Amino acid sequence: MIMEIAWATLIGSVVYGSAPYVYDGIKKSSENSKLRKAFLNGELFLKRKDEKIKIKPNILKTKISDDKMTFVFSIPKGVNPEKFVEKSYVFKQHFNDYIDLKVESKRGILNVYPKGLPREFKYKFEDIDVSKQKLPIVCGMNLAGKLFTYDMVTHPHLLIAGETGSGKSSMVRSILTTLIKSQSPKQVRLILGDLKRSEFFVFKNIDHVEGVYHSADELRPVLAKVKREMIKRGNLLDEQEVTSIDELDKKPPKIVVCIDEIVLLKKETDIMDILEEISSIGRSLGVFLILSMQRPDSNLLDGKLKVNLTVRMGFKTADAINSKIIGTPGAEKLDTAGRMILRINSDLQQIQAPWLDADKARKLLAQYKQTTSNVVPIRKETVKKEDIWGVLTDDET
Ligand SMILES: Nc1ncnc2c1ncn2[C@@H]1O[C@H](COP(=O)(O)OP(=O)(O)OP(=O)(O)O)[C@@H](O)[C@H]1O
Ligand SMILES: [Mg+2]
Repeated sequence: MIMEIAWATLIGSVVYGSAPYVYDGIKKSSENSKLRKAFLNGELFLKRKDEKIKIKPNILKTKISDDKMTFVFSIPKGVNPEKFVEKSYVFKQHFNDYIDLKVESKRGILNVYPKGLPREFKYKFEDIDVSKQKLPIVCGMNLAGKLFTYDMVTHPHLLIAGETGSGKSSMVRSILTTLIKSQSPKQVRLILGDLKRSEFFVFKNIDHVEGVYHSADELRPVLAKVKREMIKRGNLLDEQEVTSIDELDKKPPKIVVCIDEIVLLKKETDIMDILEEISSIGRSLGVFLILSMQRPDSNLLDGKLKVNLTVRMGFKTADAINSKIIGTPGAEKLDTAGRMILRINSDLQQIQAPWLDADKARKLLAQYKQTTSNVVPIRKETVKKEDIWGVLTDDET
């Protein structure tokens, strides 16, 4: 009798209770073997020349749920983690196009989602969580269906690249609108370079905006002022023996220099020098760059600038070579305006940028617009004062 009960319990648990586990186990092992094939076909292993041994990545963890599959794998010592980023296409070939990849020195995390991104979604300031970030940069919806933002203070300097009509200027419009709506004019000062004279008109005479500049000659004096400000801030850090302006007793505002179509300034070496300097020392001094360009120019991006632009938004590019220069492999295959591959360090994810047209932006910014009667006096006073950006009082920080 006891034996019968034991058998019944065992069979019952296999048929009913354990069935999902058995199924999960089969599914996991078949998905793991797909991943192993991807490593193999992408040659993502270490092969010693003198020996035939291949040291392959190990799958450390596999998690499967209805809305995504996550794999954690080890990166063999001796294999450049960057290779996994470059060859992210093999994961797409073995699973589907809807993947994101995070690579550290010793391990990688691959997420595979069942469906792609919407072709469009509307910008709504209320949906953006800006509470935890000092300089929130809105990016858009990711494959997990979340509105992705990051803090520019932690990940300084942004490059936005992609061919004409891919969505660069629209992205900049959403980013600047979010910065203006989430920060006070004393917390953030915006210096906007609009060399095509077509993009930044909605930001003219907004409280947070130092100015909208249309040529190298217009930009030169204000960038020289930024340079003086950086020297001053550097001296302050030395005096107070701190490493960042956020540790100062009296915090000066953050300065964001945003230039649409930077390639048009390529020959202005004095300007490029200042931009390069901002990219290398700006972070601790509270000075940040947002640069956009249609065709990634390898000369312009070969130097310090590229290394220091730690975040890249790769909208559609003409070909794989351009995507490679930007550092966002696969961007050549994007087929929707506003769609990008976002790269932060070695994390790649696909994002659909929020859509905010100029009319809606104008309405959202109306409350910050200076009226014609107050524009002139404010500008005059601003120019006269040497210490133009001032400092924030405790309740403004
Ligand atoms: N996030 C988005 N969602 C939906 N549509 C978009 C989005 N971004 C851009 N578009 C569409 O693509 C068009 C071109 O976008 P945008 O002007 O931003 O491109 P661009 O990359 O700046 O081009 P250019 O290099 O010529 O200046 C927009 O007018 C809009 O119709
Ligand atoms: Mg544009």
